Amino acid sequence: MKPAVLFGSIFAAMTMPLAAMAGQATSASFGHTADGQDVQIVTLTNSHGVRARVMSYGASLQSLWVPDRNGKLADVVLGYDTLQGYLDHRQYFGATVGRYANRIAHGKFTLDGKSYRLSLNEGPNSLHGGAKGFDMRVWKVLDVKAGAQPSVTMEYVSTDGDQGYPGTLTIKANYTLSDDNQLKISYLATTDKPTIVNLSNHTYWNLAGEGSGTVMDQALMIPGDAITPVSDAAAIPTGQMVPVAGTPYDFRMAKPIGRDIRDGSSQQLLFGHGYDMNWVLSRKEIEPHVVARAEDPQSGRVMTVWSGKPGLQFYSGNFLDGTTVGKDHHVYRQGDAFVLEPQLFPDTPNHPDFGSARLAPGQIYRNVIVYRFGIDHTGK
Ligand code: GLA
Repeated sequence: MKPAVLFGSIFAAMTMPLAAMAGQATSASFGHTADGQDVQIVTLTNSHGVRARVMSYGASLQSLWVPDRNGKLADVVLGYDTLQGYLDHRQYFGATVGRYANRIAHGKFTLDGKSYRLSLNEGPNSLHGGAKGFDMRVWKVLDVKAGAQPSVTMEYVSTDGDQGYPGTLTIKANYTLSDDNQLKISYLATTDKPTIVNLSNHTYWNLAGEGSGTVMDQALMIPGDAITPVSDAAAIPTGQMVPVAGTPYDFRMAKPIGRDIRDGSSQQLLFGHGYDMNWVLSRKEIEPHVVARAEDPQSGRVMTVWSGKPGLQFYSGNFLDGTTVGKDHHVYRQGDAFVLEPQLFPDTPNHPDFGSARLAPGQIYRNVIVYRFGIDHTGK
């Protein structure tokens, strides 16, 4: 064979798999809101068949298909097959939560000497941005990219005074799927007046697949050695930081989520009807690092979560009460999913010790969350 031909055939052999390896990104309509806004759904697929669907209602992760140790794909996030499910039930399934993820006591805070009152939507407090949080907005799809790392970028502009928050806040949410099975969510925000910001993602995970039952046997590790306890069922932090050692809140060594969830020696667990607590990962923003690792021993699916935020809210799906029908006619019951929300500590604007949620003009707010999926071949 002549060298040129040999080169040609090697070249052909090399380019074909390269072309087949490219990730895909497609966009379609997912329906309309009651006021007639079109909601888009973007599907990102990598060369291993891992598929993420992101909808513009709430810039939400609608589904994510990842392989088990035998290569079998399952959708590991709870949600609905149709937009109507999301419109009918505000459960934050897969959603981007803000302007302030988690709670602000009495919906009140002071910034630069001025007091603000937010919309209240959980008793006397403001949760996940108030009565109409970012999870309920239709975001604008700015960019859908195919290629080695398929991605979508969405934008939402929250006006000055929206839900009581000062300043026009422009938020970009980017979802990127890599070929090594990482889904990265980057939230960026800028403002035209000083304001407060805390954005996170509220996906409900079940590594055995949504609708497969309880996650109590799935193992979780959180490298935080303290929590910010709450004063009652309204879940507002007392301001203390209490070590997890010797409590059901100790997840420093991986353990099944359900192992200590019935340990009534902790009043905190009773307040939340299970785990619903902020872990102290660091005292300030640091470089992205592992903030949680979860594993389903049956399927071998492993998820590692990275973020640079100081807090992590871990919620064990306590208020899923079997009253809603999710994807594929699945009923979701208490403990059928876990939620991991990297963020600032709850109610930070009212606890100077917790840090600062302030964003000023000229600054860029960032929360980059990476979910990496892998397989544990040692289990089972
Ligand atoms: C967060 C809160 C929980 C609950 C869920 C949504 O995780 O901490 O108390 O409100 O959102 O149901």
